[in-house]
Amino acid sequence: MAMKRESILVIGANGQIGTALLPLLRTQFGQSHVIATDLRQPQSDQGLFELLDATKPDALTDVVRRYRITQIYHLAAVLSAKGESDPIWAWNLNMQTVLNVLEVARLHKVKKVFIPSSIAAFGEHAPKYDTPQMAFLDPATVYGISKVATENWSMYYHKRYGLDVRSLRYPGVISYQSMPGGGTTDYAVSIYHEAVQGHNFECFLSADTLLPMIYMDDALRATLELMDAPEANISVRTSYNLAGMSFTPAELTKAIQVHFPDFVTEYKPDFRQAIADSWPKTIDDSVAQQDWGWKPAFDLPRMTQEMITNLTPVYQPLVSTL
Ligand code: SER
Repeated sequence: MAMKRESILVIGANGQIGTALLPLLRTQFGQSHVIATDLRQPQSDQGLFELLDATKPDALTDVVRRYRITQIYHLAAVLSAKGESDPIWAWNLNMQTVLNVLEVARLHKVKKVFIPSSIAAFGEHAPKYDTPQMAFLDPATVYGISKVATENWSMYYHKRYGLDVRSLRYPGVISYQSMPGGGTTDYAVSIYHEAVQGHNFECFLSADTLLPMIYMDDALRATLELMDAPEANISVRTSYNLAGMSFTPAELTKAIQVHFPDFVTEYKPDFRQAIADSWPKTIDDSVAQQDWGWKPAFDLPRMTQEMITNLTPVYQPLVSTL
């Protein structure tokens, strides 16, 4: 029997995760079976792309119908730090897009949906170390509140309509492919960009702020492994805890100094310190391990090596071959 081809919609394709996930999806499902969408045109043209404002249900419905979409990856969101500058706008954007995705997926019989959550779903009353899958969720940011609501709406659509929605609580995601925008964990990306240019780094968190992080390769592999797992294995329909590694800015600085001994970080904590302090320090992801075999591959030294190797050529002056 011929296998039915999937048709994959990525919302927020120009963002930090979308940029890195697209090539993998295009390899797995075929160039003409992955439709990238975003509010803005991508910087480089690499395949099927449509401008899409996912806060508009009709526009989303139109794309889903035209391409007979079978899977949606909804990666558009206002992150933790940026959300605090305009909480009502951030809430509306994050929730309208999620509700549109869930409702359009239900009405048009989309087979699988991925909507990520975050460590930002946790707040003051969750244990800070080895934060368990089931913990009290009282987030301190509007981003976190929207992620808790998203988790509950996802579970509701699964229970009530049988929609196959899956989710991961991403730690801070570190990648070289593109810059994150507006997050509290962004320092751990910016620091590498400064280091490879021979600059010092000014860190907006204090030296000893321990946070859960993950290298992009691991985050993407977790996403694809979760989406590939048999439906019967998925016991969590809110969102799975996911761990990569945990480190402080001081530990990250030391790991970079192995490659650049003169590298210096200065600490000037700002409003993002309180956000970071409200989050877990380490994550217990044993349910993800049991249900679909999750195991991260990258620790701090290996990630640092990869980040420096990939970012160094970006900042090298163009050498004329004439
Ligand atoms: N990386 C995100 C942020 O810092 C957390 O999900 O907002």
